[in-house]
Amino acid sequence: MSIPEEIDFEVDADDLEPLQEQERELGAPSLVVDDLYVTYRVFGGKRVGDRSAGRMQRMVSRGRQHVGGLTSVEAVRGISFVARHGESIGIVGVNGSGKSTLLRAIAGLIPPTKGSVYVSGDPSLLGVNAALIGELTGERNVMLGGLALGLTPDQVRERFDDVVDFAGIGDAVYLPMNSYSSGMGARLRFAISAAAVPDVLMIDEALATGDAAFRKKSKARIDGIRDQAGTVFLVSHSLRTILSICSRTLWIHQGRLVMDGPSEAVCEAYHAFVRAQD
Ligand SMILES: Nc1ncnc2c1ncn2[C@@H]1O[C@H](COP(=O)(O)OP(=O)(O)O)[C@@H](O)[C@H]1O
Ligand SMILES: [Mg+2]
Repeated sequence: MSIPEEIDFEVDADDLEPLQEQERELGAPSLVVDDLYVTYRVFGGKRVGDRSAGRMQRMVSRGRQHVGGLTSVEAVRGISFVARHGESIGIVGVNGSGKSTLLRAIAGLIPPTKGSVYVSGDPSLLGVNAALIGELTGERNVMLGGLALGLTPDQVRERFDDVVDFAGIGDAVYLPMNSYSSGMGARLRFAISAAAVPDVLMIDEALATGDAAFRKKSKARIDGIRDQAGTVFLVSHSLRTILSICSRTLWIHQGRLVMDGPSEAVCEAYHAFVRAQD
């Protein structure tokens, strides 16, 4: 899918709803993302002796650049914004728009190609997704994820039963995570994130799957983190989930920030865009 170049996504500040609720609650900046670029470099060259690779390669690689067998994908292109303590920020955008890459860069898991990310306070902010390993049991992953979020091993052991209860996965916690349904995996990931009070909590499509009760618990947990002046990022395809949890939303398209404002306005514009594509 493509967007004609002439469409201007810049939003005039005057067109946005006033940020009353945010002004009331927000603290100092917790995170500054300044003209961030992230480029993936992957080996995408033609395989020797495979004649058909040429055309296939061209088909799958539109919009990507090949240099000497290396393909580079500009996943994030010049994104800037400031997040504040106590803020929960939704991130929307079609598949492949760069949402997960942005979160990974904020977490320090991939280096910026250009630009920078400044984090106040605990620099070990972490999206727990990245730390988990499918071949290991849920139990081992609770430990790994907890450590990644800055808990001590004793703290993780103390909270283990709560995490398993929250996730509602029962004895499956002793099975490898790659045997879980996506819903079970998502619930466990969220439960692990919820075991700590990180400065910045990043949730990448982990809420879409649970039932109503799980979503309610999750929302309460996110509100708790905001009350303790953390910053929450939530990537979700459910605009309703974003609207119920986030006061502000970023819309990312083809690696660029096309809109940043109150969730109502951004979700409405994004929804209209997605509808127009169909
Ligand atoms: N590890 C990777 N190596 C190479 N390209 C990647 C990698 N991860 C993502 N990409 C590419 O970067 C772009 C953005 O992907 P991603 O951040 O996962 O988007 P989203 O989370 O919005 O679906 C896509 O073109 C995707 O194919
Ligand atoms: Mg993603």
